Amino acid sequence: MNDEISINLKRWDELVNLHFQSKFYDVQSFINGKNTIPELEQRLLGDISGKKILHLQCHFGMDTLSLARMGAIVTGIDFSSNAILTAEKLRDEVGISEDHVKFIQADIMSVNPLEMIDNDYDMVFTTHGTISWLPDLFKWATLISYALKTGGNLFFMDTHPLLSIFEGDMEMRYNYFHTGKPSYYEYEYSYASDTKVKNRSANNWTYDMAYILNSLINAGLTIQRMEEYPFLAWKFFDIMKKRDDGYFYFPENSELSVPMMLLIIAEKN
Ligand SMILES: C[S@@+](CC[C@H](N)C(=O)[O-])C[C@H]1O[C@@H](n2cnc3c(N)ncnc32)[C@H](O)[C@@H]1O
Repeated sequence: MNDEISINLKRWDELVNLHFQSKFYDVQSFINGKNTIPELEQRLLGDISGKKILHLQCHFGMDTLSLARMGAIVTGIDFSSNAILTAEKLRDEVGISEDHVKFIQADIMSVNPLEMIDNDYDMVFTTHGTISWLPDLFKWATLISYALKTGGNLFFMDTHPLLSIFEGDMEMRYNYFHTGKPSYYEYEYSYASDTKVKNRSANNWTYDMAYILNSLINAGLTIQRMEEYPFLAWKFFDIMKKRDDGYFYFPENSELSVPMMLLIIAEKN
């Protein structure tokens, strides 16, 4: 594991407990039966019962377990041992069996797929806060392609690359284009918690739209559908407000509109 990823891992290991207790993740509602996959995404996924799904960067597993509640057989993977232990406990608490959901602890940038990951998945699912943590998108796409059987799908939903030029305001501060170098940040808080974090350092990578698409095309995937949405699963700009569908929007009277969330559905050839 390289130093930049080790720094990120320390932060993510600490964030697991904070997030588990946070209002943002609302674990109790999930335990009571709530599906944490927003309705829009459930509709796009369609009927997944009986499908074998690989969930990349699964955090402490609520979405992984929600996919299982929708009938899928799911493997969640994350590099944080704390995330994986918490996910396994949560799985046991909500009474889902290991036959339906298993979790793997691994850095997806250094994992050897042949040793750890099956290659007959119907779907790879990865959403909300994923590729900005990864230094090599071609490796990411190759892993996805390896894991999918022919005709299997990638379901990717994340922050739109345009937002990488902004911080919490509308000033253009950063490069849009991928440079290969990470941006180093000191974040006092996380997107989901008001408690100050000890491990503040983080490295993030920016990927422009062409880079994302080309990494997938290069790995043998065909893009089937792409969407850009003017809302997002978390509060990126200070002015955003959460609506009943679970997403954050600009205020209703705002005349501004920017793409904030990106969907890519692709098929393994
Ligand atoms: C923003 S969270 C994903 C959240 C998830 N969509 C959810 O809402 O629960 C990002 C996740 O990526 C994981 N992660 C970051 N870098 C990783 C890597 N190199 N390999 C595997 N997991 C990684 C972190 O541990 C964290 O759980």
